[in-house]
Amino acid sequence: MKNSTHGGNIYKKAKELGLREDQILDYSANISPLGIPAHIKKAMVDAIEGSVNYPDPDCTALREAIGRQDGVEPGAVACGNGGADLLYRLAFGLKPEKVLLPVPAFVEYEEAMTAAGAQMVYEPLDEEMCLRPDVTERITGDIDLVILCNPNNPTGLLTDRRQVLDILQKAQEMHCRVLVDECFLEICEEEADYTVKPYLKDYPNLMILKSFTKLYAIPGVRLGYLLCGDPAVIARINRAGQAWSVSHIAQCAGVAALEHPEYRAAVVRTVKEERDFMKKELRQLPLCLFDGRANYLFFRTPGVTDLDRRLEARGIMIRNCGNYENLSGDYWRIAVRDHKENVRLLGELRRALEEDNTFTREGRDGYGKGNHGAGYHVEFGKDICDSGAVSGL
Ligand SMILES: Cc1ncc(COP(=O)(O)O)c(C=O)c1O
Repeated sequence: MKNSTHGGNIYKKAKELGLREDQILDYSANISPLGIPAHIKKAMVDAIEGSVNYPDPDCTALREAIGRQDGVEPGAVACGNGGADLLYRLAFGLKPEKVLLPVPAFVEYEEAMTAAGAQMVYEPLDEEMCLRPDVTERITGDIDLVILCNPNNPTGLLTDRRQVLDILQKAQEMHCRVLVDECFLEICEEEADYTVKPYLKDYPNLMILKSFTKLYAIPGVRLGYLLCGDPAVIARINRAGQAWSVSHIAQCAGVAALEHPEYRAAVVRTVKEERDFMKKELRQLPLCLFDGRANYLFFRTPGVTDLDRRLEARGIMIRNCGNYENLSGDYWRIAVRDHKENVRLLGELRRALEEDNTFTREGRDGYGKGNHGAGYHVEFGKDICDSGAVSGL
């Protein structure tokens, strides 16, 4: 298991760099570029008075609101202190012994599962960072849980619903559960075509993880939920932690969030515009860009493993992906933020890459195909990888 560093630790980085937290431009965590909407701020301020009482341990109003939004019964919803809390509850509540995990994937899956004693079985993604077509063959009788992330973190790539359904079907036949993490899917314009929410009734072995923290820009508040058509699973997840894991403020924030669907539409629109702009600009840089669909982008700078430190010197944090299983230290993930910030990031990124003369036009000849073992070919103005994993907008 690799180390468990996450993006978004501005507190540690500010201390290291001798800066205040607000002097750091954080591209390492993927949060809505529109910030906390006014209606959620108001709901949280209004909730201060009610915080004199313990929060509702059943999250009644919140589960009802989620049920209405997602087309499920409130009984199919378990709320938690962020999606991450639900991963631990799932691990300790269901106690899977063997977990199949396509990698690279969000580091917390493995952290949570192994904390509860599970053994991980890694399934490397193919060269294009996609699930292999024969992944269903890996769901053997000894696998208790398969975890899929859609869109995947860190790649931002989407997996076709047909492939997810094939996995669900095979898993059902093998009495195996499947967790589909859709925490970033609501930020993708393609959500309706990719979500497996409509299949919760058909597949009681399906669990879907959702989060409020990214879409509504409230990672510091902590709020997530899990959907499952099997009430026994919901009961076990609820029992696997303290009764009051979701604060009153977080519950009120969640209810307010769901009352204003227009905010989500605005986030999706802004992210798409900015992501397209960033892709266009990144394709002018000497790096291998993947065709991410979420509010973050994933790329490789073959052989360059200190890009984060070069950008830190400019007050910008990006996510080094070297601690993801199946990735080396020259893979990076950057958030999609607002336009002004993205322009700044792209300028600094260009300058940071120019520090390395292997990336200059003169230097690139010695940097081509075959020199890096991964079959990458880097060319100016194009985002070419031999694997074809990268593509245009
Ligand atoms: C893919 C994925 N799922 C779930 C989470 C958990 O999010 P939270 O605990 O903030 O709801 C994260 C956090 O980064 C993530 O990247």
